[in-house]
Amino acid sequence: MTSKPWGGRFDAGTDRRVEEFTESISFDRRLFRHDVLGSQAHARMLAHVGLLTQPECEAIVRGLGEIQAQIEAGDFPFVLEREDVHMHIEAALTEKLGDLGRKLHTGRSRNDQVSTDVKLWTRDAIDRLAAGLVHLQRAFVASAGRHEGLILPGYTHMQRAQPVLAPHYFLAYVEKLERDRSRLADCRRRLNVLPLGAAALAGTSIPIDREFTARELGFDGVAANSLDVSSDRDFAIEAVFALTLIAEHLAGWAEEWILWSTQEFGFLKLPDAICTGSSIMPQKKNPDVLELIRGRSARVIGSLTTLLVLIKGLPLAYNRDLQEDKIPLFDAFDTVEACVELAAVVVSGASLRPERIAERLDEGFLDATTLMEHLILNGVPQRTAHEVIGRLVGLCERKGLKRLADLADADLAEASPKLGPESRGLLGVEAAIRAFKSYGSTAPAEVAGQVERWKTKLEL
Ligand code: ARG
Repeated sequence: MTSKPWGGRFDAGTDRRVEEFTESISFDRRLFRHDVLGSQAHARMLAHVGLLTQPECEAIVRGLGEIQAQIEAGDFPFVLEREDVHMHIEAALTEKLGDLGRKLHTGRSRNDQVSTDVKLWTRDAIDRLAAGLVHLQRAFVASAGRHEGLILPGYTHMQRAQPVLAPHYFLAYVEKLERDRSRLADCRRRLNVLPLGAAALAGTSIPIDREFTARELGFDGVAANSLDVSSDRDFAIEAVFALTLIAEHLAGWAEEWILWSTQEFGFLKLPDAICTGSSIMPQKKNPDVLELIRGRSARVIGSLTTLLVLIKGLPLAYNRDLQEDKIPLFDAFDTVEACVELAAVVVSGASLRPERIAERLDEGFLDATTLMEHLILNGVPQRTAHEVIGRLVGLCERKGLKRLADLADADLAEASPKLGPESRGLLGVEAAIRAFKSYGSTAPAEVAGQVERWKTKLEL
């Protein structure tokens, strides 16, 4: 018999190197609040079914609360021999309450306990992140409000394509973040099923009441298969996948704004507060926050990969491999929460530079597609209309003209009889913007409606 909680069948103590290799206290200690919460609910359930007296239950709940306060105050001894946060807290409770503390682990195992704790932690982390996403969405909507009426060149393949209103541009990110939020909500819903009481893998012969525990902990239901839930980590993978998409959305946006803040683009002014300088080049102002948001997506993708490979090929039920899930899970949440927070700071502080954008807005033939659509609306088949305008663009390039509007009336009329002088009214980016009509397009009325919709939805 050794001093471990599982020491009964052991004659010799654990090798120190094994303790060092197998510990998880160095990273799972941050589950302590959720471990206490889960244990308190478990104790209440044990009292509810008559396995603890009311005074015993109260002593346990109080003792656990004191241990939590002690950990929060930073005056709790963590030792390698106690392996993980669950054994630390239970051992501390037993030090306080003697044999009563030794009753707490009735009808549960660390396997269902770990799973419950990690779910509770993830649920809180999802709620925090969802609030952060709303904050970032509001920052984008506010930016849309600050840049009303401003026209931007829209790109495909990083080549100028068609004009878009600046609010339309900002709302594109609001939409992405909304899907991110709904993915998190979806994951939360599937996650919110109680593992506790699944015990090690097969359930227990002790007459526990899992519905009671579920209600205590705010779970929507109780997992129906102990073998499944005692080792299920789908929820962690799903959550980190949702985080990966957030990271990818932010990385694309960051890349765009890094480009936009270059001398070459000059579209964007970043506030000093979010930039850094160079130790050698005095003139420099670098967009480090955006670069790190872009770069940290690598870590999140790495966390997702780690989890996927970790879980791949694991037979039922609990395997010690699962202990490793917390490292990528925590890191992914920490990383994405920080990126979302900083992104909101950047969005709130940055402003587009209308004069710089306007300087070259008439380059790139942003109005070509609208002019083609004018021909289509006047009965020209789309393929023909496309060719006609394509030829006009080619003609401009040969003549060294920047804009379709620079062509002579005769050139237009020669390209198509439908391109009379009245079609000039469709040229230029302002006219192109006014011509848009479809739902979800960058038409001014559509965009104004969408801005209003988001303001209402996000309570702005
Ligand atoms: N520290 C372990 C973890 O986090 C506890 C699991 C205990 N279960 C076991 N059968 N050893 O996964």
